Formats: sequence, C-alpha cells, structure tokens
Amino acid sequence: MARSYSIAVVPGDGTGPEVVAEGIKVLKSVAAVEGIKFDFTQYDYGGDRYLRTGEILPETAVEEMKKHHAIFLGAIGHPDVKPGILEKGILLRLRFELDQYINLRPVKLYPNVETPLKDKGPEHIDYVVVRENSGGVYTGAGGITMKGTPNEVAVQEMIYTRFQVERCLRYAFEFTRKRNKRKTLALVGKTNVLTYVFDLWERAFHEIGEKDYPDIKREYYHVDATCMWMVKNPEWFDVLVTENMFGDIITDLGAITQGGMGIAAGGNINPGGVSMFEPIGGSAPKYTGMNIINPLAAIASAQMMLETLGEEAAAERIERGIIQALKKDIKSQAAGKMGLSTTEVGDKVAGYAVA
Ligand code: IPM
Ligand code: MN
Repeated sequence: MARSYSIAVVPGDGTGPEVVAEGIKVLKSVAAVEGIKFDFTQYDYGGDRYLRTGEILPETAVEEMKKHHAIFLGAIGHPDVKPGILEKGILLRLRFELDQYINLRPVKLYPNVETPLKDKGPEHIDYVVVRENSGGVYTGAGGITMKGTPNEVAVQEMIYTRFQVERCLRYAFEFTRKRNKRKTLALVGKTNVLTYVFDLWERAFHEIGEKDYPDIKREYYHVDATCMWMVKNPEWFDVLVTENMFGDIITDLGAITQGGMGIAAGGNINPGGVSMFEPIGGSAPKYTGMNIINPLAAIASAQMMLETLGEEAAAERIERGIIQALKKDIKSQAAGKMGLSTTEVGDKVAGYAVA
C-alpha cells in the first residue's frame, strides 16, 4: 500500500503561492515513482485574508494544522500590512504553538551557483545551522511603559530555560551524528557579554556533549566572529547550533553565500509533532504574479519535508533534480535572471527528479 501523507499547504503572500505550486509539482512527480500518496489541503492564511476579514488566524488554525503530517508554507508578509502583525500572528504563532523548537537551515552551495565569496566553491560551503526556534527575545518578557514621553522605557528580554536549551542541543548533537560528515558541532554564542544566557548554553553544551556524545567534537564561536568566518572560512563548519535571534541573523548571511534567498530552504521542526517547511526568503511583493521568482528554495524545502517524513529516497530524487536543473538549465538565481520562468524551473526539476 502507498505510504500516505496529509499536507497542509499555506501559500501565503506575494510570490508564496507561485513557489509553493512548483514545490507541489515536484512532490507529485516524485510521489508517483516512489509509491507515496499526498493529500494536499490549502489554507488561505496570509495578508490578503487579513485585509479582507480582519482576522489574522482563525481560532481553529492551530488545531487544523495538527491534523496533518506536515505544513508546506510559501511566505508571510504583505506590503499593506504593518510589519509584525502577520509575521507574529501567523508565522511565529504557528512555530510557537506547534512547538517547532528547531529551525533547521542548511547552507549548501550547489555546483553552478554563484556565491559572492571569493575563491569558494561547493567544496567549501556545506554546513547546517540549527537555530533554536522557541525562545530567546522572540518569546522573552517585555513591554513599553510611559510610551511617547521622554521617560519611555522599552524592555525585550532574552529568556531561556534549561529545558529549551537542552532539547535544542540534544537535537543538534543527534543531527551532527546522523549527518556523519566532520562530526563537529559548534556552539555560536556571546559568552563575553551575555554572561547569563550563554553561561547556561555553554555549560549545557559541554555537559551533554561530554556525557552522551563523546564521538562529536565540540567547538565554540562568538556570534560576531562567526559572521566573519562564514565569509572567510566557511569550510570550517559542519553543524552550528545557536539561539533564536542569532540564528535568524546568521542564516541570512549563510543564505547569500549559497546563492541567495531564491535557493535557501528551512524547516521548523517539532521532532514529535507537526513540522513546517518554508523557503527562508520573504514574499517578494514586487515580483508577484510575474512568473519570474526562483522556486528552488521552496522545492528544497519540500525536499526537507520528505527527509523529515522519513522519505529519504524521494528526498534524494528532489536534490538530484535541483542539481541537474542548476547544471543544465538555470542561468542565475536572481528573480528574472534565471533564463527560465518559475514554472519552467519547476518542470525541469520535476522531470530530472524522476529521470
Ligand atoms: C525568518 C524570518 C522570521 C524570523 C520573521 C519573518 C518573523 O526572518 O524566518 O528568518 O525572524 O524568524
Ligand atoms: Mn530571518
């Protein structure tokens, strides 16, 4: 009997629907040859729905999402909606309420993809950032008092519990072991300034590593220095683990070194629950509806979804499809410069994936 998965699809805003459509095209293509059955259910959460109805997410949304094996998301963010409303009310709310406590972001340069890093190629840029996805300043305490007065006070605190830190580190150690490349996990922090939060991270890192993962080499880098090494010596890295906001920032830097937002994929993972996969770029409103945006990030996110569902063979097919299309057909990663339309890129990858 075919293995069957129910997938919630949230195309979202801007170019989200266009790239999600190509991801689904490729998923359907590999499903047919790998004996997989997908049931896709579309949800219209996003800026247009909010502007139409005034509702950010329906009450039932989180429970609805829990009925599926995974969520495939395009992009959230609308030019006519004040920044923060949709991001917090949809994307972050789903991440937090579905307890997707890991944000997994591979930084991998494929052959034939241009990187702004001088003298670096695919042999130098291949690592994964494990971003903590449930805590830090994103969920820390805060508020504003005496707003609009000269005495105004704004507070936004970085809060971490041992539980949050430990589950993230354990995931990262397990991931490094399973990846089985250089077996090196680097903690990225700021122990020289954030002496409370990173004291906790650093102690937990070495305690857990020493006791349960003696086969994994441990390294530590300050986050500012990490930015420098990601540019100068990316080949040093195998797996990086870090807190939420540091992970947000360094993965944009990582993305540009692997060819940009058109190609960088991510997964919001709850290892025991429902995970959500999304291209890490935004909704790119100015390219909406033009059929010129790069769908590879969404397609690579679909690949990560298959990996997480345990469909390794189908996931490998997608990666082969991406590599072939990059080798043979796609001229550049930038929107409008690919030499192919969005839908043509999807057709190519879908074809190569089952060749
Ligand atoms: C990301 C984004 C989000 C984040 C925003 C849109 C809330 O930048 O997925 O990296 O900060 O996590
Ligand atoms: Mn970001």
